[in-house]
Amino acid sequence: MNILGIETSCDETAASIVCNGRRILSNIVSSSLNEHKKYGGIVPEIASRRQMELINSVVKKALSEGKLTLKDIDGIAVTVSPGLIGSLLVGLSFARALSFALKRPLVEVNHIQAHLYANFLVSADNRQNKNTTLPRLPAVGLVVSGGHSSLFYLKNFSDCQRLGATLDDAAGETFDKVARMLNLGYPGGPMIDRLAATGKNNRVNFSCAQIPESADFSFSGIKTAVWYYLRDHWDKKKVSVNMVAYAFQKSVVSVLVKKSLALCQKKNVKTLLVGGGVAANSALRDSLWRAAREQNIKVFFPPLTLCLDNAAMIAGLGYHFLKINAHQRKEGGN
Ligand code: KG4
Ligand code: ZN
Repeated sequence: MNILGIETSCDETAASIVCNGRRILSNIVSSSLNEHKKYGGIVPEIASRRQMELINSVVKKALSEGKLTLKDIDGIAVTVSPGLIGSLLVGLSFARALSFALKRPLVEVNHIQAHLYANFLVSADNRQNKNTTLPRLPAVGLVVSGGHSSLFYLKNFSDCQRLGATLDDAAGETFDKVARMLNLGYPGGPMIDRLAATGKNNRVNFSCAQIPESADFSFSGIKTAVWYYLRDHWDKKKVSVNMVAYAFQKSVVSVLVKKSLALCQKKNVKTLLVGGGVAANSALRDSLWRAAREQNIKVFFPPLTLCLDNAAMIAGLGYHFLKINAHQRKEGGN
């Protein structure tokens, strides 16, 4: 069963075809990120205008790369929320029109849950995973992106409960804001990740709010702490950007690791799925691998390309929703 996925929730215009919810036949992502860089963040109006221009050609490219035509598409999955409203409308309108014209079923997919689904996909850059075991459900899911930081309990694909979330800034947003203070440009996560690798030190320390006994996060405090630190120390040339990047990243990673594993213990699950742009962070990957192994928990990260926004994760999760819908229709008919 070939599902066409469409994703336009932020700056990306993305289309992908996934076979049977697992094998990626094509995965096209066109981003307008360069046009937003000078503003230090995404400008919704620019994003949705670009998506209007690109959606047709991106879908055509996904078909040609998958060596398929529209006749080979069995269903369509599209991101419905959360996201920028103008951007979502472009993808939704396109998908609804296509579903109507092709007489193929349409399912609407939540972008955040789809980030966790990226762990179930097989792409060109993780072909070796083809025969390895799939993540087992139930699982705990950590989604850390530019707009969201949440912890989920994932019973099955249609039962995903959010048990924790950020009370203020998202993890990726915090990386971006701290990077801006350090004049590193946008998006800042990858730059901080790179600089932190050579900034190891014990002189600079920041801490994140812990919110004991809760699966919620808060990152606005550490952002302010970095700001005050830079205000008081920058001119004295006693610290390097790398050292600040290291200390900031260490603290964010530590709270993400701690809360994710605590929820695994609480829910008594042995599988942890991670997704979203910040899942590309090398320190988070290393720390979680190590800490999870000690507790006998299996942690899954998508390959780097599937950590960021893409339509393959939408098509993959959409496949399961379409199957569930078809099953319910059949049951209802009996
Ligand atoms: O999932 P995503 O592509 O978009 C949203 O749905 O928000 O995530 C983008 C976010 C940005 O905030 C970016 O700075 C962050 O992911 N990011 C990283 C890394 N790569 C991307 N943060 C930390 N380390 C990275 N290596
Ligand atoms: Zn995302």
